[in-house]
Amino acid sequence: MKLLVTGGCGFIGSNFIMHMLESYPDVDIINLDLLTYAGNLENLQDVAPYGDRHRFVRGDIADRELVRSLTSLGIDAVINFAAESHVDRSIIDSSAFVKTNVLGTQVLLDACREFKTGRFVQISTDEVYGTLGPDGAFTEDHYLAPNSPYAASKAAADLLVRSFHKTFGMDVVITRCSNNYGPYQFPEKLIPLMISNALADMELPVYGDGMNVRDWIYVTDHCRAVDTLLRKGLPGEIYNIGANCECQNIEIVSYILSRLDKPASLVRFVEDRPGHDRRYAMDSSKLRKELGWSPSVSFEDGMNQTISWYIEHEAWWKRIRSGEYITYYEKWYGRR
Ligand code: NAD
Ligand code: DAU
Repeated sequence: MKLLVTGGCGFIGSNFIMHMLESYPDVDIINLDLLTYAGNLENLQDVAPYGDRHRFVRGDIADRELVRSLTSLGIDAVINFAAESHVDRSIIDSSAFVKTNVLGTQVLLDACREFKTGRFVQISTDEVYGTLGPDGAFTEDHYLAPNSPYAASKAAADLLVRSFHKTFGMDVVITRCSNNYGPYQFPEKLIPLMISNALADMELPVYGDGMNVRDWIYVTDHCRAVDTLLRKGLPGEIYNIGANCECQNIEIVSYILSRLDKPASLVRFVEDRPGHDRRYAMDSSKLRKELGWSPSVSFEDGMNQTISWYIEHEAWWKRIRSGEYITYYEKWYGRR
């Protein structure tokens, strides 16, 4: 099986590539990644033993000729992880979000249609549904109500993917997962930001009252779900992915501080994120009941593994937390 994985040098994409290479000796992967600020070849340092089963191509999913040249190679499936993925950055400037997340997806879809690629898996997000009140969970037929420019760009892409199934009969599957955490997550997202700030004895900036709720899943469980959907998902269907693990942000931050033996005085409540979704919760019973997937990593194990990983890989995140990262950090947090 020959796969085109986009965004394979990011957090989830790199974990997915390792999962597929380790699990299937007959899978070859072309990894198309632009290496934006979030892409990092160091995330794939364990790929070497797999030789030419993994081929990296640096490039843009919105580059039509490049994408055509890759899809013309006889690709069995495209798994589209490539995206601008950080909500806060989309509040600063949404241009790259529209270009990559919307136009890039359309370019990939056109090429897959032209070269009759077997299956197109769109990696979407629970954020397309918007926000929940205190009760209930998102099901796949919940209406779309994205609240950030990031979420809106992902919802637009989902609708394009859906339309290529309805109009052209393309074999597509859309996955919508909740918040991931684990090794190689860029330290702009809540968990790695709080771990790396705490390790550096810096303040931990918690938005608003800290009581917004996210539904957490360990990254390898997400990768196993995408693998299941690649093989067994029904064409044209949407599948939610989640591990039923709701936590308030302040609970996460407190857990990290106590695990690292750092004082609670490092917490700083700062101005809220504009349009901040209050609560996410995913109903993933369709994926569990129809395709037999279930998460395997408990929150406690996942957090302990993640915290240990960041302690052991200080050089990885310290290299990232320089240059562009500092400019971004000062621009976003300086004024809060
Ligand atoms: P990430 O920001 O860590 O990685 C994104 C990768 O895409 C990077 O390697 C980057 O270089 C690459 N990329 C960006 N623009 C590109 C372009 N134009 N062409 C080619 N490559 C490009 O993101 P992530 O957290 O790994 O998320 C991966 C996907 O999963 C995204 O589509 C995101 O919307 C979705 N998702 C993420 C989460 C989460 O909690 N992180 C949850 C649900 C869904
Ligand atoms: O739900 C899936 C989504 O999860 C993905 O689609 C996105 O790509 C991914 O970035 C993530 O989005 P969130 O906005 O939920 O994640 P983030 O880590 O940015 O924030 C998680 C929560 O923590 C949110 O309520 C905002 C809060 N937060 C975040 C940061 C960065 C803070 O309180 N302080 C912070 O400094």
